[in-house]
Amino acid sequence: MHNTINPKILYFGTPVVLISTLNEDSSPNLAPMSSAWWINQSGMLGMSKKSKTVENLERERECVLNLPCEGLVGAVDKLALLTGKNPVPVAKANMGYRYEKDKFGICDFTPTKSQIVKAPLVKECPIQMEAIVKEIHAFDSPHPIAAIEVKILKVHIEESLLMEGTKDHVDPEKWRPLIMNFCEFFGLSQKLYPSRLAEPFLSRY
Ligand SMILES: Cc1cc2nc3c(=O)[nH]c(=O)nc-3n(C[C@H](O)[C@H](O)[C@H](O)COP(=O)(O)O)c2cc1C
Repeated sequence: MHNTINPKILYFGTPVVLISTLNEDSSPNLAPMSSAWWINQSGMLGMSKKSKTVENLERERECVLNLPCEGLVGAVDKLALLTGKNPVPVAKANMGYRYEKDKFGICDFTPTKSQIVKAPLVKECPIQMEAIVKEIHAFDSPHPIAAIEVKILKVHIEESLLMEGTKDHVDPEKWRPLIMNFCEFFGLSQKLYPSRLAEPFLSRY
C-alpha cells in the first residue's frame, strides 16, 4: 500500500560536495552541500542565496568542488551549522548556525593550491574538480535558492581510485562517495547487479 505524504524535504540521497570559494579578502570559504548533479563536463548546484558560497560564486565566478569519501564523514560533520556569512542570516541563526571565518581550520582540512582557479583544493578529498560558473539561474522554491551551473575545467583524483590499466576511468568499485540521505550521512553498499549501461560507456569514453 502507498500513502500520499507531504514531506518537508525530498533529499532522497545524493553525494556530499565541499565547495571551496574565495571570500572578498581572498581567504577561503568551505561549505558542505549535496543538491548537486552532473552531466557531461558540467554540474548543477542548488544552494541557498543566503549562503556565503553563493555570494562568493556571484563575485568570483569560480570554485573547487571537492568530493569527500565515506572516511571523511567526521570532518565533514564539523562543517555543519556553520556559515562564512557575518552577520549570520536570522533564519540560520534561529536554526543554531554560527559564523566561522576559518572553516578549513575547524575540520582540519588542508587548503592546497589549485591549477586554474584561485579557490583552493581540499587536500584530503580524493576527488577535486576545478570549475567556473557559467550561469546562475533562479530556482522555483518558497526559499531563495540559486541553481548554479558550473563547467568543470580540471579533475584531480587520487590515483588509487582509477580503473586498473586506464588513466581517465574512475573505478566505481573503489570510489566510496559520502551520501546525504534525508539529512543523515550514509555510504554505498556493494555493487548490486552488473549494469547494462556500463558496457557501452566504457567502450565509448
Ligand atoms: C551534508 C550537508 C549537505 C548540505 N547540502 C546543502 C545544499 O545542497 N544546499 C544548501 O544550500 N545548503 C546545504 N547545506 C547547508 C550549508 O552547508 C549551509 O547553508 C552553510 O551555511 C553554507 O555555508 P556558507 O554560508 O559559508 O556558504 C548542507 C549542509 C550539510 C552539512
